[in-house]
Amino acid sequence: MITAQQNELLTRVGGDAPMSRLIRSSTWVPFALPTQLKPYDAPMKVRLFGADYVAWRAPDGRVGFVDQACPHRRVSLALVRNEGCAIRCIFHGWAIDVTGKVVEAPSQGADQADFCARVEVAHHPTREAGDLVWVWLGEGLPAEMPRLPIVGLPEGHAWSTVTKVACNWLQGLEGGLDTFHIQALHASWIERLSPPKKSSGGADPAKMLLTSPLTYIVEPTELGLSAIALRSYPNGSTLMRVTQYIRPFSVLIPGYPTGSTLTMSVPVDDENYLFFLVYFSAREKVDENWPPLRRIVGNDRVVREDFAPLLADEAANYGQDRALMAAGHYSGFPGNLFEEDTVVQVAMGRIADRTREHLSASDVAIVQMRAQLLRALREAEADDIGSAAPGADPLGFEVMVPPGADWRDAFAGQGRRDVA
Ligand code: FES
Ligand SMILES: [Fe+2]
Repeated sequence: MITAQQNELLTRVGGDAPMSRLIRSSTWVPFALPTQLKPYDAPMKVRLFGADYVAWRAPDGRVGFVDQACPHRRVSLALVRNEGCAIRCIFHGWAIDVTGKVVEAPSQGADQADFCARVEVAHHPTREAGDLVWVWLGEGLPAEMPRLPIVGLPEGHAWSTVTKVACNWLQGLEGGLDTFHIQALHASWIERLSPPKKSSGGADPAKMLLTSPLTYIVEPTELGLSAIALRSYPNGSTLMRVTQYIRPFSVLIPGYPTGSTLTMSVPVDDENYLFFLVYFSAREKVDENWPPLRRIVGNDRVVREDFAPLLADEAANYGQDRALMAAGHYSGFPGNLFEEDTVVQVAMGRIADRTREHLSASDVAIVQMRAQLLRALREAEADDIGSAAPGADPLGFEVMVPPGADWRDAFAGQGRRDVA
């Protein structure tokens, strides 16, 4: 149970809110897929932590990222003429280049060069990695790129999608750490993903996943925590499924049945977040036809820029298909696996009231994650953020522990980048 004040601290991400400062000062933030930025296109409007920006790609591939308000008289730079390396405000024709410098200010007349050099544009550095475009919104020198397994993968080994979700970022993050919900919310998907077949002595793997007795264990890691779900199967073996939380907003989920997924819940403002889903493999190239991805996409529609949209509003129960439920579908949302997730997140309200929850045994990872973030906020206030020591990068994974073996031995030998 958390207090109203703690709920505010965890969820408020606008401007100078403590959580906004903590995230912006500690990590690069993904904001777009590389394919969303094309030279000479209209600039992309970007909203993060309650502030508005524009981003554009120069013909040489570099990405500019500046405040949306023109430094001259504050007109939106979303309306600019895009001249390639520079964007030109349509009001008085000031031009800003991809490094964030004013290069022309025709309204100044003579001594333009001196004048331009004195104008400070709120510009932020960008980078590309893991099929995402990232921005550094903190003050001072940028940190190293986050220690995520997608950073540093060879070209083509990660494939990203994004959806804007109409609720607070913490609801997205908590969704990734909520292990139990796969066997309720996603029950119909699990049955579809794991069709009955002869294995483990003829048992049906989907049914076992949905009905086996569960134990939850959380182990803190240097970057966050490992959420371990142990399912006991009738033949004495144990299915160990490990999801990794990496502060502040990343979750590594073991794939079905192979491959890995990274989710990131990036704050747009208090009431919206960007849900990035990255499918990746160190072993093989990944694209939209990658088999593990096809299995979780319900149909042929993969809109990378809006991967899991709501089909209708709250008044229409987000498009829930009651006839389908009557015919046996669990949730009534058959679009794709993550539509089920975004529906339940939005259906908690824009900012869930965590003071009125009744948490159960399966919520232990969520409780620990909140405690870690609250501690990080306290440490940030005391100016005491230690940098993580180098070590192996974590990875979500799933392992069948044979009868008689100790899951702890299997846990110790897994969870690093080399098993992707
Ligand atoms: S407001 Fe943009 S150039 Fe004047
Ligand atoms: Fe889910």
